Amino acid sequence: MKATFHGHACFVLERDGKRVIIDPFLTGNPAADIGPDKLPHLDGILLSHGHGDHLGDAVALSQKHQATIVATYELAQFCSDQGATSHGMHIGGAHEFPFGRVKLVPAFHGGRVEGDKTGRYTTNPAGIVVTIGGKSVYHTGDTGLTLEMQLLAGRIDLMLVPIGDNFTMGIEDAVRAVEFVKPKSVIPMHYNTWDLIKADPQEFRRRVGNAAAVTILKPGESYTLS
Ligand code: NI
Ligand code: MN
Repeated sequence: MKATFHGHACFVLERDGKRVIIDPFLTGNPAADIGPDKLPHLDGILLSHGHGDHLGDAVALSQKHQATIVATYELAQFCSDQGATSHGMHIGGAHEFPFGRVKLVPAFHGGRVEGDKTGRYTTNPAGIVVTIGGKSVYHTGDTGLTLEMQLLAGRIDLMLVPIGDNFTMGIEDAVRAVEFVKPKSVIPMHYNTWDLIKADPQEFRRRVGNAAAVTILKPGESYTLS
């Protein structure tokens, strides 16, 4: 499986010609390396939560690629009501899709949905565990450090973890999160998109030490899980 970083918290996972995108914030993302029109065909769109820097281009991409948006029930409903195809789930539930298995796990964060003028789509934010071809990727979503992460200990091949602080874990807690989850490898995310979430990924890598292999990706770069 190949994981390509597109800036902020957006990743594309690809295997055997099937592709899923997580948190497709490309339009208006100062860190994005490509626009939404440049993405190859997508089979699925996974959303951790409804904030604008995660929901991003999801609805338009769903329509363009006939790709299903997978999210918590309320956020999925919002996307459907905007004209997307969606599949609602909730924390603790897993489902098999043609591209792989998705399980939503807890994240501690805000639940507002960008563009919802009614407030009725407000939802729990989530972390996402995607299993494709026997490899499990854990995108924590936006979250603080939580003990729930320990439930995933030893079950994750690749962890995508925020280090930018202010809205999510900073480096210190992200290092503890890696200690909780014990993934084989880690890619830091959700930093340096704006000044408010400035962080040094080299410092993160140094502090993780031997606990896991940290790969620092620039937007547009890929990591292959072997
Ligand atoms: Ni957020
Ligand atoms: Mn965010």
